[in-house]
Amino acid sequence: MKTYDFIVIGSGISGLSFALRAAEHGSVAIVTKRAAAKTNTAWAQGGISCVQDDGDSFDAHVEDTLKAGCGLCPEPVVRDIVTEGPPAIQELIDWGVEFDRAKAGGSDSPPPLALGKEGGHTARRVLHHKDTTGREIETKLLEAVRADDRIEMMEHHFAIDLITTDKLAFTSPSRCVGIYALDEESGQVLTLRSDRVILCTGGSGRVYLYTTNPSVATGDGVAMAWRAGCEIANMEFMQFHPTCLYHHELKSFLITEAMRGEGAELVDRDGVAFMKKYDERGSLAPRDIVARAIDQEIKKTGGPCVFLDITAKPADFIKDRFPHIYETCLTVGIDITKDPIPVVPAAHYQCGGVKTDVNGATSLPGLWAVGEVACTGLHGANRLASNSLLEGVVVSRFSLTDCLEKRPIGNEAERIDIPDWITGDVTDVDELVVVYHNWDEIRRLMGDYVSIVRTSKRLQRAATRLRNLQREVQEFYWNFRVSSELLELRNLVEVASLIVDCAARRHESRGLHFTLDYPERDDLHWQQDTVISRK
Ligand code: SIN
Repeated sequence: MKTYDFIVIGSGISGLSFALRAAEHGSVAIVTKRAAAKTNTAWAQGGISCVQDDGDSFDAHVEDTLKAGCGLCPEPVVRDIVTEGPPAIQELIDWGVEFDRAKAGGSDSPPPLALGKEGGHTARRVLHHKDTTGREIETKLLEAVRADDRIEMMEHHFAIDLITTDKLAFTSPSRCVGIYALDEESGQVLTLRSDRVILCTGGSGRVYLYTTNPSVATGDGVAMAWRAGCEIANMEFMQFHPTCLYHHELKSFLITEAMRGEGAELVDRDGVAFMKKYDERGSLAPRDIVARAIDQEIKKTGGPCVFLDITAKPADFIKDRFPHIYETCLTVGIDITKDPIPVVPAAHYQCGGVKTDVNGATSLPGLWAVGEVACTGLHGANRLASNSLLEGVVVSRFSLTDCLEKRPIGNEAERIDIPDWITGDVTDVDELVVVYHNWDEIRRLMGDYVSIVRTSKRLQRAATRLRNLQREVQEFYWNFRVSSELLELRNLVEVASLIVDCAARRHESRGLHFTLDYPERDDLHWQQDTVISRK
């Protein structure tokens, strides 16, 4: 058993920024299931929203966020996060992150930051690094973490479950005292103890077949928190990004919304722009509206996709502003300076998650959750583009302060004995093919039954099938030696069920949740979070 002052699970922007600050106060372990750079953060293209310009204001950013969130964002939470943006951005810059700047003027001071625009924003306020903002942030924060010997980076360690006192000693109220983690190299399960566990595990896009997310996004944090009895909120609000590349060789490749911010238009196969039919803001309407419009166009025309057309812009501008997309599309024969890009909506961002306050504190003492895994309320029923990296870096600041206040270092809670993990008499997974089959089945049924347009009947069907799959997966879990494939499958089926459960409870349409059985928004009965817990 090892003991740390802080255990951070996950190595995206939330986890790394938390760890860098926490190391000033005590020992930190970062537990991450693959190589540390394999995160959702690293795949973010568009940028990070933050008020920077004299023509913009915190009020305007708050207002845009509330509007996109369709009546579910608590205003104080939004305001706290938005106004803490500038110092948090400065920290990123101090850690080495480079954002694009406007062309140099004559003075000695650095030119101002170049600001992009995305759907739902009424001002230019998206800081970016070309079209690889996430990669820049991930790389620079990882360099800083690796240079800090107070932080132990545990790559290829899969957090299996949170350890809580109610399960160990039947004490109430329960608190989190550590985690069990599988060391993938040795196959051993380690017991890691801490009074401050921070979940930064990202989202769950891989629950769907079509997603912009990397393979790590299997909802591990939400599933673990659920099993530990935490409150989970708003899982029905899965954001579909309107523009994922449609190509059989390149799946999960995002075409950033920043491209629409620079003038790209959504067009049908005849090259006719269609978004104005659906919303006066056209291609820059909020994502829920754009994704539903594309879904409708695809169903109407019977075609497999629609197109994003940026060819009206000069080729040099496109290559300079979107080099990653330009080069990647070229590898499959699409020259975006000349050809419209085939796109479809795909699962992109989990707006719900482990319910927390603005400090990331969960309903389980000793456990904080930050970033996509958490539901602070900032995103409400529909996230405003580029607000998520902001949330990660800001809430990780708040949560460190909260940790230190609630559980001061050196004033540790009473230690209770934590038993080692019992491996038991189990064999290796010899039926890996069944694991893969179940994985595939979950992702397909979520796409078929729990996608952009829902019905109560489809949700019911999904729930029944997921219950059967859950039983099967649970059997595997008890009978076989744990492996990362099995652990991911166990989490995936849990999270899929939570999405279906939340969606079935909401008898209205709001933001990202649209159901044909209740097509209207109903503020009288449903202007509230969907909160569920095992307890
Ligand atoms: C994008 O670049 O379009 C994604 C940005 C985001 O999801 O916030």
